[in-house]
Amino acid sequence: MTLLKSMVIGTGSYASDKVLTNHDLEKMVDTSDEWIKGRTGIERRHILEEGRTNSDQAAEAAKRALKDAGLSAKDIDCIFVGTITPDSSFPSTACQIQAKIGAHNAAAMDVAAACSGFLYGLILADTLIGSGVYKHILVIGSEVLSRFVNWDDRTTAVLFGDGAGAVVLGPSDGEKGLLSRYMKSDGRLGNLLYIPGGGSTCPATHESVDQHLHTIHMAGREVFKHAVRTMVDAALHGLKEANVKPEEIDLLITHQANMRIINAVKHRLKLPDEKVFINLNEYGNTSAASIPIALDQAKREGRLKEGDKLLLVAFGGGFTWAASVIQF
Ligand SMILES: CC(C)(COP(=O)(O)OP(=O)(O)OC[C@H]1O[C@@H](n2cnc3c(N)ncnc32)[C@H](O)[C@@H]1OP(=O)(O)O)[C@@H](O)C(=O)NCCC(=O)NCCS
Repeated sequence: MTLLKSMVIGTGSYASDKVLTNHDLEKMVDTSDEWIKGRTGIERRHILEEGRTNSDQAAEAAKRALKDAGLSAKDIDCIFVGTITPDSSFPSTACQIQAKIGAHNAAAMDVAAACSGFLYGLILADTLIGSGVYKHILVIGSEVLSRFVNWDDRTTAVLFGDGAGAVVLGPSDGEKGLLSRYMKSDGRLGNLLYIPGGGSTCPATHESVDQHLHTIHMAGREVFKHAVRTMVDAALHGLKEANVKPEEIDLLITHQANMRIINAVKHRLKLPDEKVFINLNEYGNTSAASIPIALDQAKREGRLKEGDKLLLVAFGGGFTWAASVIQF
């Protein structure tokens, strides 16, 4: 089946003004600004204020994307939300956002693919628009990871932050649109990066809470190795499927997890620094939100012009990984 093309017609993002710096973390755990910056590239992260929810911040990002697209919430046919930090197990965060923005004509669902959740959602949305099922789809990545971090564990506490990014996808008006759609996963590696508690395997008990089973557990060094391998694999597959050479890429936006992982992809594709978008220093790892936040920022800063070729690459728990080349 030949798919029609879909294209990004609006972007938006939101992060709370509340910021937690590396120096703040020095007062909480045995760490240093020097260690965090040197090993990860992170300098600060945004933390959603108590009392506000994942769907609150995602709704704000969604409204900004709709405004940018010149559409009303009622024009949206479907909402996909990449998140591993939903408001609650159910209803989905997508349904909560739908109610908050008034997108009453839409179907809404979450995409559970960890840090690849936004890119998975974008590719699903593209195929639904491409096959003519829907016209306008809101794809969101939104996370409140600060509420799933063990703030006494220096190996994970320094890495994560909160935020939301959104895009509106609509039918392409010509050349623009997704040129490739690469998604993969490997469930055998799930327990290298996961939250053990809170699901039906390990419901909340006093003991599970005392043991911090409801927070992120990660084998950092192992995850790092797989992240480098699979992000490079995804980037190469995404390029090949789009029939685009690395040197034709105008901007690379990868999931913002670690500067050293991003550099590995940059070196493999032989891209100069100015073609690699980085905002990891400002946000930390915001999981599914990192790519749409970066995309919105890149667009607002004029780093993406009409006709540019953009390469998006994600990696996350599951494991999951994905890539797409987009003609902007
Ligand atoms: C977490 C990560 C930054 C750690 O960097 P690393 O170079 O692998 O560091 P190691 O885990 O080998 O630890 C090196 C030392 O630093 C220490 N350390 C760990 N966290 C620290 C911190 N926040 N501050 C200071 N020291 C720390 C370790 O205890 C270890 O000490 P030791 O040598 O005395 O045992 C890195 O493994 C990583 O980025 N992994 C991928 C994480 C990721 O991206 N996850 C999400 C994927 S979507």
